[in-house]
Amino acid sequence: MITGAGVSAESGIPTFRDKGGWWKHYRPEDLATPDAFARDPHTVWSWYDARRQGVARAEPNAGHRALARAEAAGCRVAIVTQNVDDLHERAGSREIAHVHGSLWQTQCTADGRVVDDRRVPLPEIPPRCACGALVRPHIVWFGERLHEPPLARIAAWLAEPWDVVLVVGTEATFGYIHEWALAAKRRGACLVEVNPRETSLTPACDTRLPGPAAEVLPAVLPGQSTA
Ligand code: OAD
Repeated sequence: MITGAGVSAESGIPTFRDKGGWWKHYRPEDLATPDAFARDPHTVWSWYDARRQGVARAEPNAGHRALARAEAAGCRVAIVTQNVDDLHERAGSREIAHVHGSLWQTQCTADGRVVDDRRVPLPEIPPRCACGALVRPHIVWFGERLHEPPLARIAAWLAEPWDVVLVVGTEATFGYIHEWALAAKRRGACLVEVNPRETSLTPACDTRLPGPAAEVLPAVLPGQSTA
């Protein structure tokens, strides 16, 4: 399973590139790059604090829950998500690799230590580590390398055979999303896209299930009758 912002859209979390998406109103280079943070940590953290507040108020939707139910019913489900929210976890999914990091972790800019921080709203912007240094969101920004732990999990998952890879609610902008989907397909997985619109990955998919994730996933995933 590969998920993107579209899977959380029906929980009220904005996507990035749709109408109303973050990158329709803001420039990524002002909010999601190391340079932006170095220039203006207050603006960057204000945006992340607002996003943390939005996610804290949101609930998992029927799409997140359908994935968790399939796993609870005994299906092998591994979720590679580009989302930095925790709605898959809160729905009950267990096997999740956060490719782009988490809104709920910060990293000290002095020693690199990563810690959980669930305070909403943050009491101080920009927040600081106990050592006095600034902390940054533990999120992969444009121009940065992906984090090693999720990459290791994904590599292990790709070594397994999968019957189906669902690609749900992502524009598949990044080359690595194509690479992982195609690697699973080469090993025999059926590639299925769940998205109201076509994307750059559509031509590579075996099947397209057009529609919102919260409607399509409960209709197609196994294990839903246990709800
Ligand atoms: P995008 O905003 O680029 O794409 C969202 C996708 O979800 C689009 O293809 C929509 O058609 C689809 N969509 C919208 N509503 C949906 C719904 N209800 N059900 C199913 N699909 C729906 O978001 P991502 O592809 O996730 O990275 O973006 C990838 C990355 O780009 C993000 O993780 C973020 C961004 O820059 C960073 O910030 C590092």
